[in-house]
Amino acid sequence: MQNGSLPPAVAPSTPATSAPTGAATTGGPTPGAPSAKAPTSLYGGVTSRRVTVRDLASAKRRGERWPMLTAYDAPTASVFDEAGIPVLLVGDSAGNCHLGYETTVPVTMDQMVMLSAAVVRGTKRALIVADLPFGSYQESPAQALHNGARLLKEAGVGAVKLEGGERSAHAIEQLVQAGVPVMAHLGLTPQSVNAFGGYPVQGRGDEAAHQLLRDAKTVASAGAFAVVLEAVPAELAAQVTASLQIPTVGIGAGPDCDAQVLVWTDMAGMTSGSVPSFVKQYADLRTTLGDAARAYAADVIGGSFPAAEHSFH
Ligand code: KIV
Repeated sequence: MQNGSLPPAVAPSTPATSAPTGAATTGGPTPGAPSAKAPTSLYGGVTSRRVTVRDLASAKRRGERWPMLTAYDAPTASVFDEAGIPVLLVGDSAGNCHLGYETTVPVTMDQMVMLSAAVVRGTKRALIVADLPFGSYQESPAQALHNGARLLKEAGVGAVKLEGGERSAHAIEQLVQAGVPVMAHLGLTPQSVNAFGGYPVQGRGDEAAHQLLRDAKTVASAGAFAVVLEAVPAELAAQVTASLQIPTVGIGAGPDCDAQVLVWTDMAGMTSGSVPSFVKQYADLRTTLGDAARAYAADVIGGSFPAAEHSFH
């Protein structure tokens, strides 16, 4: 990450009072933690407990922007947590970026529980949001609650994300009423790839823009604590952001959202092949890892590894 103009990242300390890894992250203060004080900033500002959805609401009121990244495993998540990223998304983009599928559609609840639990174990400070995968919430609000509760109980995440506006409002209401914080996701919703026939930009034209605005207001009224806007015109995302009290999280939605999210493998140069044009690449890990693997292979083949210092006698 480029820290340039951002506040210094805070390596999360682990005072005796901090929430144990995997502790529930949704509610009020961790028992025993000196928690009541509102953080002065979200990025690097909450050090003694997990970030909560209430911290995100406060950041919106302060006008503070924040970064979110995806994560799918414990070691990568711990790097982002130590870099001060306040919210990590265990996206069902794990399907394409971690599990080797072509789309997010095949991802299952069991896979999301396993990946999310690893991310929770690898972190101490970030709010962990896990995606409800395709087919795990569309049947009924009861199905949404059943699977949302699994992610909180079995994986220990602090919130879930699901796709859809008006069509998902009842599921959001059911989850929120039961105490499951929900991040909504509008615009390009990748679980609908088969209906969209690809990944086209959404919200273009008056009718589509009005529908997106209606969807955004509906998910906010249903109780969502934030809404992802994916691949929508920047002007529309700005309008949605100005008209909502909850934070918008943009991905390919221009600079005026309250927060931004990127898929970590795109952001860090681990993705093979092309990445969407809205991605900025901050590292070239694919080249770095490939070079390391080739250097290791050359040492093994040439007999210079293991050397004396890598051997027991
Ligand atoms: O699954 C995912 O990673 C997402 C982000 C692209 C927002 O939904």
